[in-house]
Amino acid sequence: MTDAGLALADWFTAHCRDLPWREAATRLDPYRVLVSELMLQQTRVATAIPYFVRFVARFPDVRSLAEAPEGDVLALWKGLGYYSRARNLQKAAQAVVREHGGRLPEAYDALRRLPGVGDYTAGAVRSIAFGLATPAVDGNVLRVLSRFDGIDGDVALPATRRRISDLSAALSPPGRAADFCEGLMELGATVCLPKSPECTACPWRDACIAFTEGRTAELPVKRPKPPPERSERTALVVRDGEGRLLVEYRESGLLGGLWGFPERESEDAFEARSGVRPDLEGARSAGVVAHVFTHRRWRMEVSVCGVADAAGAADGPKPKWRWVTEAEFEALPVSKAFQKVREAARVFTGT
Ligand code: ADE
Repeated sequence: MTDAGLALADWFTAHCRDLPWREAATRLDPYRVLVSELMLQQTRVATAIPYFVRFVARFPDVRSLAEAPEGDVLALWKGLGYYSRARNLQKAAQAVVREHGGRLPEAYDALRRLPGVGDYTAGAVRSIAFGLATPAVDGNVLRVLSRFDGIDGDVALPATRRRISDLSAALSPPGRAADFCEGLMELGATVCLPKSPECTACPWRDACIAFTEGRTAELPVKRPKPPPERSERTALVVRDGEGRLLVEYRESGLLGGLWGFPERESEDAFEARSGVRPDLEGARSAGVVAHVFTHRRWRMEVSVCGVADAAGAADGPKPKWRWVTEAEFEALPVSKAFQKVREAARVFTGT
């Protein structure tokens, strides 16, 4: 079994793409491996590269990340989406400082207990940074191994995943856990593609059941995903007399830890929540913005308005609300969804 594993590890060493998290020193630094694997979970390699470089330049080690203001961490994550990854990464760094003296633990269970670290990430960090063979099964690996071994169970089922995970453990060649682990990911990303895999370039071509039986198009077997749940919403862009924008901090939920525009509601309710009375009489529609999250699809009616009492009869923004200038808005951690809202308002008002 490990002959095939060795062939893959050798192929990886000879053919892998040059990526910042693959520099020798980075690969030996469990913290950097953790950062890269969390970024790569839901982000494409090309997108992640500049974010990774900036992130580790600003937070070069566990302690610097643990001690940073959360807003700085989120601001560096801005544009990558799935901000819970960034919040968890910082919480993980804090737990590593508190419980492990600032060094990531090697033990699987200890890694797995860190916030945001699931089976995949724990396996990747152990294999890549510590050289300890541990399955790290993501979508690419499910595809590669189900084709390699002709596994035709639904890859969404735990039993199929377990079989693939066991196969990965059995294939990992002694002393080459890191190259094997990243080799599986690399093969999935560059050769064993979902459509039109490039089997002629594959080190596993002769051993691959899907290739030899002409079944690459049938594997992996996946049941269709349910469509994202639709949610109809509103977003109110309130500007004051100086052109500043009113933003609200979300403490929890899908966009917890981020700033955004509030929902439109009655003037009284809005004022009670924010301390600012919007001029809804004068509100104008700036159109509709759509944004798709993993399981949800938001459709937001964007309205733009001023304040009802520019002289400031209302109390002014309450805590967790702020008036921000354009430059301040740019620097805040704001989700893509609300960046789109800002853009719609800008196009509509010309400012
Ligand atoms: N996707 C997940 N982990 C990766 C890695 N280390 N290199 C490239 N793509 C990946």
